[in-house]
Amino acid sequence: MASGNNFDGKIALVTGGGSGIGRAVCQILARDGARVSVCDINLQGAQETLASLNQPGVHVALHMDVADKESVREALSATQEKLKGTPTLLVNSAGISRRSSFLEMSEEAFMKVVDVNLKGTFLVSQLVCNAMIERGEAKGGSVVNIASLAGRNGLAMNCQYAATKGGVMAFTKSCAKELAKTGIRMNCILPGAIRTPMMAVIPEELIKEALRVNALGRQGEPEGKIVAEMVAFLLSEKSTYMVGACVEVTGGHYA
Ligand SMILES: NC(=O)c1ccc[n+]([C@@H]2O[C@H](COP(=O)([O-])OP(=O)(O)OC[C@H]3O[C@@H](n4cnc5c(N)ncnc54)[C@H](O)[C@@H]3O)[C@@H](O)[C@H]2O)c1
Repeated sequence: MASGNNFDGKIALVTGGGSGIGRAVCQILARDGARVSVCDINLQGAQETLASLNQPGVHVALHMDVADKESVREALSATQEKLKGTPTLLVNSAGISRRSSFLEMSEEAFMKVVDVNLKGTFLVSQLVCNAMIERGEAKGGSVVNIASLAGRNGLAMNCQYAATKGGVMAFTKSCAKELAKTGIRMNCILPGAIRTPMMAVIPEELIKEALRVNALGRQGEPEGKIVAEMVAFLLSEKSTYMVGACVEVTGGHYA
């Protein structure tokens, strides 16, 4: 295989698979032989991703709200039933941002982002990792969480978003330490500015301003699949000595 990744016989569950980075991840994992459960709160987006995959018939698109434990449980069961096995590759890409000033942000607006980005990563990871362990398939299991450079550097007008992403980094490092003995690895990626529907709602002049401290001076393209290729590397056996790592994919973003 051109990429050198071999996910033949493996099942991957990707949250937020209906758009942007999650969609690119589904495409790369399917290209490299995985059977993919494309999970998203937006079922139509998940179905569009499914239609874009090599051999759509061997994959599945499912509704999942990562912030709702029952919904996660149902989508995991449906994955096991339809793909006839347990996912041993997991990518937590579902995420939201809600631009608002810290001084004016409501408690509800704060908690909405926490529920999806941080609690959602916890719920999905816990249910999927326990399923791997119960089925005796933990060895070789791998989880990749999509955090953000904002979690390291902070992001004005997005304090709750940045806080959840910093939380995802600490969550990743903590779980990685606990899970190492089971054979499951957990790592995370810190993307910089990637051109996706999430970025499309941010005014162009703000993006330009942010890119003044970017070495390449431009956003990354999800179709270029640079983040997705890094996800595949972290899921693969090529990265078996990487545990609890936070890898930046930013085009050289210094602030
Ligand atoms: N685009 C960027 O510049 C950038 C930078 C850093 C980090 N990220 C992170 O990358 C991840 C993917 O973002 P993206 O840019 O592809 O955005 P996107 O908006 O294109 O995709 C996010 C997907 O998550 C889904 N989603 C939202 N809430 C959900 C829920 N409760 N349950 C299940 N699915 C849900 C959406 O329906 C959507 O399909 C996010 O975690 C985001 O925070 C993005």
